Amino acid sequence: MYGAHGAMTTERLRGGKRLGNLPAETTRLIGRRAELKALRELCERSRLVTLAGVGGVGKTRLARAVAAELQPRLRDGAWLVELSPLSEGALLAHTIADALPLVDQTTRPVIDVLADYLADRETLLVLDTCEHLTDVCAMAVEALLRAAPGLRILATSRRVLSVTGEQVLTVDPLPVPVTDDPAAGEADAVTLLAERAAESVPGFSVTDDNRADVLGLCRRLEGLPLAMELAAARLRELPVQELTARLEDRFAVLGDTECIRTDAVPPWHQALRTAIGWSHELCAPAERLLWARLSVFAGTFDAETARAVCADGRLPAEEIPALLSALVDKSILIWAPTGGGERYRMLDTLREYGAGWLRRLGEEDALRRRHGDHYLRLARAGDAAWTGPDQFAWSDRMNAEHDDLRAALEFTLAESEGRTALELAGALWFLWHGCGFPKEGKHYLERALAADPGPYPGSARMRLDADALGGCDRYRGPGRRVRRRGRAVRRSRIALCGGPGHVAGRPAR
Ligand SMILES: Nc1ncnc2c1ncn2[C@@H]1O[C@H](COP(=O)(O)OP(=O)(O)OP(=O)(O)O)[C@@H](O)[C@H]1O
Ligand SMILES: [Mg+2]
Repeated sequence: MYGAHGAMTTERLRGGKRLGNLPAETTRLIGRRAELKALRELCERSRLVTLAGVGGVGKTRLARAVAAELQPRLRDGAWLVELSPLSEGALLAHTIADALPLVDQTTRPVIDVLADYLADRETLLVLDTCEHLTDVCAMAVEALLRAAPGLRILATSRRVLSVTGEQVLTVDPLPVPVTDDPAAGEADAVTLLAERAAESVPGFSVTDDNRADVLGLCRRLEGLPLAMELAAARLRELPVQELTARLEDRFAVLGDTECIRTDAVPPWHQALRTAIGWSHELCAPAERLLWARLSVFAGTFDAETARAVCADGRLPAEEIPALLSALVDKSILIWAPTGGGERYRMLDTLREYGAGWLRRLGEEDALRRRHGDHYLRLARAGDAAWTGPDQFAWSDRMNAEHDDLRAALEFTLAESEGRTALELAGALWFLWHGCGFPKEGKHYLERALAADPGPYPGSARMRLDADALGGCDRYRGPGRRVRRRGRAVRRSRIALCGGPGHVAGRPAR
C-alpha cells in the first residue's frame, strides 16, 4: 500500500474504509516505553498534545508510534500530516485536507470544509513539524478542535503551540549508561547505536573490548538518536575507538561560530551540531556539495531530478548516482522505494544544515532558480502529455512532486519572478483541475497574477482559469478525481472540473 509521497503505509481498512496513512517503519522503535505510556494517557485526557524537544531527539518517531497504537481504537483512524515541506502557512488547511480521504468540491474555505468533515468523526491528526508555522497551526488547531468534538490532535514541534488546553510532553534523548559496568544493562542509547552500527558493519556488537568506547560515544552524543545514527554510519570507515577520539577532538574545537541557527527555531543541541558537523567534515568534498545542493528539495526526489537540479561542472551528472548512494550509507539521505520508483529524502535537521552550507557557498539563489526551472520544464511536459495515454503516470508523478512544485512556486513568488510564477502556475492547470487541487490552483494563480509581471499573453486565460477553479463545485462531473496523493479514488479517465464537456482535456484557451 502506498500513501503520501508514494511511501509505504500501514494503511488499514475497516469495512472498506481507510483508517490512516501512517508510514510503515523500517526499523524497530527502541525504548520509549515510559514515553509511550505517558503519551497514551495524555492523548486520552487531552485533545491536543504537543511533543516538544530538540531536533533529532525522536519526536516524529514517537508520534508515529503512538498514533499507530491508537489507530485501531479510533473509528475514523489516525492521519499523518507532514508539515516540514510547507513553507507557507496559507496552505496549511489544504495540506491537512490533502492527507485525509476528503473530497472537496466546494468553493468554501478549506478550513470550514475540514471542520465539517471532521465534525462527526473520531479521528487523530498527527501534525508533524509545526515549529516554523506555530501561529497558523495554533489557529487551525483551535478552529478544528472547536468544530469537531471527536477530533484529537498530536503535534510535534520544537516550540509549543501555546493553545489553551495544550498538553506538552517534552521528549528527552534516550537514556545513556552512567557507568561502564555491564551489569547496569544496556541503556536504550547503546541499543540504538549498536543496532545502527550492525547495519553499517555486519556482525557489530558491544563486547568487553569495545564497551567503554561505545558507552563513551553514547554519553558524548548525549543519547540523541539522530546524532547516534550519524555516528553509527561512520563505523563502516572508522573503528569505534578512533571514531570516539575524533569526535572528542571536534567537541574540543567547537565554538559558537559552528552553531547553525535560524530565527525560527531554538538553537540545536550541541551534541547534534557536533555530530552533524563532524559527519559533514568526514564527507568527501563532492558529497558535501551534493548534500548542500539537495537541501533545496522540499520533499522526496529521484536520482534523475537530483541530477537535473544539482549537476554541473563541479558535480558531474554521471557521478550523482554514486554520490547519492554514499550519502545514504552515511545516513544523510534516506532511500525509499515507492510505488513510483526509488526516491530519496533528507531528515529536516540535515536539510537545515545543508541549507546553511548552501548559503555559505553563495549558491542558494542559483540552486533555487535551477530547481524552479526544472519544475517549470516538468510542468510543461505534463501539460503537453496530459491528454495522452500516460495520464495516470503523470498524475502519480505530479502527486509525488507536489511538495517541490509548491516550493518552486513559493520561491518564484517570493523573488518577484512574476512571469515564471505565472508560467508555472499556468502550466500546472492539469494538476489543479485534474488531480483534485482546484483551491490550491486558484490560490497560486491569483498570487501570480497579483505579482503583476507586466503584459503576459496567457494572463487573461489564467484569470478565467482562476475563476473557474474557484467555481469547481458547479461542475461536479463523474470521475473528477482519480487520485489524491497516490490513493486510488476512481480509476477512470480523469475529468476536469472546468465544465461539462471537458473530459480529460485542457481548459479552452
Ligand atoms: N526510539 C527510537 N528508536 C529507533 N529509532 C529512533 C528512535 N528515536 C528516533 N529514532 C530515529 O532517529 C532519527 C531522528 O528521529 P526523529 O526524526 O523522530 O527526530 P525529531 O525529533 O522528529 O527531529 P526534528 O526536530 O528534526 O523533526 C530518525 O531516523 C528516527 O527514526
Ligand atoms: Mg520530526
